[in-house]
Amino acid sequence: MNPAPSPESPFRGKSCSIAGVGSFVPARVMTNAELASLVETSDEWITSRTGIKERRIAGADEFTSDMAFHAAERALASAGVTPDQVDLIIVATITPDMLFPSTACLVQHRLGAKKAMAFDIEAACSGFVYALEIGRRFIESGSVTNVLVIGAEKISSIIDWTDRATCVLFGDGAGAAVLQHRPGRRGIITTCLASDGTKGEFLCMPGGGSRIPATAESVTTRQHFLRMNGKDTFKSAVNAMVAVGFEALEKAGLTIDDITLVIPHQANLRIISAVGERLGVTAEKTFVNLDRYGNTSAASVAIALDEAVTTGRLVRGDLVLLLVFGAGLTWGSALIEW
Ligand code: UT7
Repeated sequence: MNPAPSPESPFRGKSCSIAGVGSFVPARVMTNAELASLVETSDEWITSRTGIKERRIAGADEFTSDMAFHAAERALASAGVTPDQVDLIIVATITPDMLFPSTACLVQHRLGAKKAMAFDIEAACSGFVYALEIGRRFIESGSVTNVLVIGAEKISSIIDWTDRATCVLFGDGAGAAVLQHRPGRRGIITTCLASDGTKGEFLCMPGGGSRIPATAESVTTRQHFLRMNGKDTFKSAVNAMVAVGFEALEKAGLTIDDITLVIPHQANLRIISAVGERLGVTAEKTFVNLDRYGNTSAASVAIALDEAVTTGRLVRGDLVLLLVFGAGLTWGSALIEW
């Protein structure tokens, strides 16, 4: 049984709940069979090594801000909040439409959220939980009423479609959440965030910043594509998500048996299974949708959270544990009373 909601802590300020969620994925489906016609791979290899069967790929005129906008509209509708009531928009992404202005400002403009502050954050695949934590602090301080947090990626725009070790893993999409103080509800109970910059080279895109600006040479030497050391990333992901999973439970004074649903970052089914095994959580209590979307980076747990709610896997009062891991390295967890 879930513990009863506690009153707001005098030290933490107001509690922060997720009032609504929404997600959006592009219509275009790319199957493993289609990838096998591009690079030397097979449905059998991709399925057995990753669990991914297909992913969504945004169109040439479909951008990160478009997917973020559609997910945001759905989240606002589910929360019963209008764009003019939004105080703050945070977009987590590593594939912004452009370096600046921020994707959050593009979304603000498209929504007509005139009074909202807007900025992007970058914590790669961990971005949604990092953004959730920033939004939560604004709500707790009492300085804002409605925060829109979005994880959105057009990862296909930085994929090297000749590299079979990475191009089979990723997909495009967006997920959004509206944060509010809801009296009597605990909402986000605890979060744990961490990073380790010493392992930045495990997963990176070298070009396009101030170190390697775009030049003809940077393009021909393929600096503007995502690169990954899969094996080291795999091991780090398992260890990191297990650690912050246990840390969140300990901070909240709960055990894994109190949790209704674990939503891990959707990178690889083998990572999810290893994490689940070490946390002591059953497959039934673990949300998986990577078979349909692959790894959508910052959008991953946001899309999964929306699907968990819309499919009835999560109902109000349930306890959900989000676990994320990504480039940086960055990782984190969020334990939430839904
Ligand atoms: O969101 C950020 C976090 N990202 C992740 O967590 C991803 C973590 N890493 C992984 O998920 C896995 O390491 C991969 C799925 C990327 C790779 O799986 P693996 O079991 O570690 O395979 P591997 O890299 O050891 O490669 C095994 C073999 C190699 O061939 P040889 O050297 O044994 O002959 C690869 O060249 O599989 C080959 N290979 C492929 N074969 C067919 C690599 N990619 C493919 C492919 N199709 N797409």
